[in-house]
Amino acid sequence: MSELQLPATGPRVNDWVLETPAYSLPTEPERNMVRLHMNENRYGPAPDCLTLDCKTGDDHSVFEYPYHRNRVLSERLEAFLGISQEHLTINHGSAALIQQIFHCSIKSGDLVRIASHSWAYYPTLVNLCGARVEFFALDEETDRFTFDEGGLISTRTRPQLIVLNTPHMPTGAIASKKLVRKLLEDHPQALVLLDEAYWGFVEKPSSEEFAELVLEFPNLIITRTFSKLFALAGERIGYGIGSPALIESLRKWEPLFGIHAASQRRAVRALDNVEYYSHLRSTIRKQTDRLASALDPDKFTLMKSGGNYVLVRCTGVDAALVEEHLKQSKLVVRACQHYGLPNFVRVTIGLSHEIDSLISIMKEL
Ligand SMILES: Cc1ncc(COP(=O)(O)O)c(C=O)c1O
Repeated sequence: MSELQLPATGPRVNDWVLETPAYSLPTEPERNMVRLHMNENRYGPAPDCLTLDCKTGDDHSVFEYPYHRNRVLSERLEAFLGISQEHLTINHGSAALIQQIFHCSIKSGDLVRIASHSWAYYPTLVNLCGARVEFFALDEETDRFTFDEGGLISTRTRPQLIVLNTPHMPTGAIASKKLVRKLLEDHPQALVLLDEAYWGFVEKPSSEEFAELVLEFPNLIITRTFSKLFALAGERIGYGIGSPALIESLRKWEPLFGIHAASQRRAVRALDNVEYYSHLRSTIRKQTDRLASALDPDKFTLMKSGGNYVLVRCTGVDAALVEEHLKQSKLVVRACQHYGLPNFVRVTIGLSHEIDSLISIMKEL
């Protein structure tokens, strides 16, 4: 319960909102620390994204309301994805989009299924809606986490919303298309939210394309972001892909006049620079492999990951101490006890020299 009490006659706030602890971000590290704890893209966006003109007075998009909200980005996404605009909704980052989806689909008392060890923002939203949560397991194998199919697909209960995040954060687990298809088929009563925030870090053909499933399944909504692969986290741009009927409803909760004009232009520039991002993808892969082969295998196991981060299993070394030791050398990583993974740390794959420092400090442990 919040320590701040509203007066009995004051504004009405639902009990479950009062009782939900606010989602708290980790403490911001000092400027001179290397941020390997937020899964940001340390390589930055395509240079074109950083050179937008700041016009004075003659740029109508600055002082006029956009009648057709998000038009610039919707048109470009349509071409980029090969999916018509009626399948798309855009919001200030995928966190806002996920909130939008909860608003549209969940009411008090509903049941939401989520993978254990997931992003804590999902259960926070469940609680803010007065709904109930059930967790399905992830299986820990020698060098990777996998989704427990029985738990994910189980029809023992009939949740209104099922949240599946692939590549999964923080574990890096990847869901197969076969699994997602089965989930959709077995749960026609549920809206399935497929959070693909880390879309694009796995090279084709090993990465599976889920977007085409929205043409077949009206109960699927996919969320993606420009924060991760495209390195535009500060611009706050996310988009959803779903069937036209679903999207028509979701759009009622879109920001009224859309996202910022300048953010849309930056996102378009990112989509125009496919080669830059494809190079970036393979660079991150190479740095991940380098880290994996440099660490002492008796102490550290890098779990296979489809994102720009890895979960490192610590054996015989305390994960919280690893976090602390690295912090003293100005590298910030995240020990994962709050994900229910006490012997793991999560590390964002940073720049080459940052990985060098990480390797040499971890060798001291
Ligand atoms: C799994 C997952 N989904 C969604 C998000 C939200 O990303 P954004 O709001 O920047 O689009 C994050 C952010 O770290 C995330 O880890």
